[in-house]
Amino acid sequence: MTESFLSPDRYRRSAALFEAAQRVIPAGVNSTARAAFSGWTPHPIFVDHGTGATVVDVDGNEYIDYLLGLGPMLLGHRPEGVTRAVIERIQSVGTVFAMPTELEIELASAIAAAVPSIDTVRIVNSGTEGVLYALRLARTYTGRRKVIRFEGQYHGFADAIYWSKHPDLAVAGPDRHPVAVAQGPGVPTEMGDSLIIAPWNDLDAIEEILVQHGDDVAAIITEPIMCNTGCIVPEPGYLEGLRELTTRHGALLIFDEVITGFRIALGGAQAAYGITPDLTVLAKGLGGGFPVAAVGGRREVMDLAADGTVSIAGTYSGNTIAVASALESLRFLSHEASYDDLYRRSNRLREGLAALLAERSIAGDVVGVGPVYQVWFTDVEIHNYRDAARHARADLFRIWWEEMLDRGVLFHPGHLENLFVSFAHRDEEIDATLERASDALDALVLRARTLTR
Ligand SMILES: Cc1ncc(COP(=O)(O)O)c(C=O)c1O
Repeated sequence: MTESFLSPDRYRRSAALFEAAQRVIPAGVNSTARAAFSGWTPHPIFVDHGTGATVVDVDGNEYIDYLLGLGPMLLGHRPEGVTRAVIERIQSVGTVFAMPTELEIELASAIAAAVPSIDTVRIVNSGTEGVLYALRLARTYTGRRKVIRFEGQYHGFADAIYWSKHPDLAVAGPDRHPVAVAQGPGVPTEMGDSLIIAPWNDLDAIEEILVQHGDDVAAIITEPIMCNTGCIVPEPGYLEGLRELTTRHGALLIFDEVITGFRIALGGAQAAYGITPDLTVLAKGLGGGFPVAAVGGRREVMDLAADGTVSIAGTYSGNTIAVASALESLRFLSHEASYDDLYRRSNRLREGLAALLAERSIAGDVVGVGPVYQVWFTDVEIHNYRDAARHARADLFRIWWEEMLDRGVLFHPGHLENLFVSFAHRDEEIDATLERASDALDALVLRARTLTR
């Protein structure tokens, strides 16, 4: 195949809509991850609709979807039960009352029953909000100021935490002692003083920090599986070590399960790895595609919100759309969904892709857990952000993405994003994806010869 990527004929309407969008929407999109500068060059692809595991764009191109809205569409697009529950709730009840409704109790109980570490929980609207509240709770509970966060992770776009996601290594300090790098100039620099940036998968580094700053560390916040730098799995004993060290130094352990929650298992990564964090943030997997999130955990920490010591607010928190979608989604995940099937299909695709790379002697690997992973083009094992920044080939990933897109397989163009498999993906889609991947990798081998690094 020639370099037909985004040929004007194939994406005519998307290109026209992008022109129109830029006149009234900065960058033509409503979130950074959708922007041309985040990889969607020459322009984002505008969607017409999605159904199950399929997305159709405005030019009529059809894709098997592994982007899944960057995670929320765990049940596929327009899952029937969730759609029906939401419509029914709006029509029969309404949406926002600034007063509680009975279903909120049912939802909180369902979340607490599903997620091992959660005694009580507040419903909020986004992962960013959930993280903010978790940090506030931790600082209040411990009376301490600093939070340890890891380079390469993302915990939402709030000023207090939007630091060192994918920093330029030229300004990010030494490997063992990264400096805090703000997302951009609008983030107040003084907020960096309340963060300590650490390399992931390195317990010695954490122990060193805690020995030095332990009295002032309120919490460690981490994704239990690092899904914001491609996909990086925790080394054996790493999460256990974080649990042990935080307990020993009187800090809280916050699991940001915005991506892993309800996806790695019904109880999230914490259930799969058998680790009990003090606080957990949940979002993307919770609402079948509707905006709903949650922050929950140990009763005595969450009780700080019971008397108003910590304010967890929000006009839209616990609105009936959020609650109905999450309840129905949890009902499906608890009673109808088969995680065994999800894992079987996901593993078949992951292992199939890895075999296709190996057959062509392409240096690379497919790394992740169950239905979330990423294809790394590298001959070095990736353990943390700096490994990825130094060794993962963005140029090869780009060719892979273009060739797959041309063949009707969709995922995010960024090599530090993920591939997601949903409960709606069937064996047919996995087979078709592997067939197309085989062709795409043949094309990649040809095109890679012309690359200079
Ligand atoms: C691990 C993690 N935490 C938090 C967030 C922020 O969630 P939201 O976009 O719902 O604010 C994200 C979003 O991608 C995420 O991946």
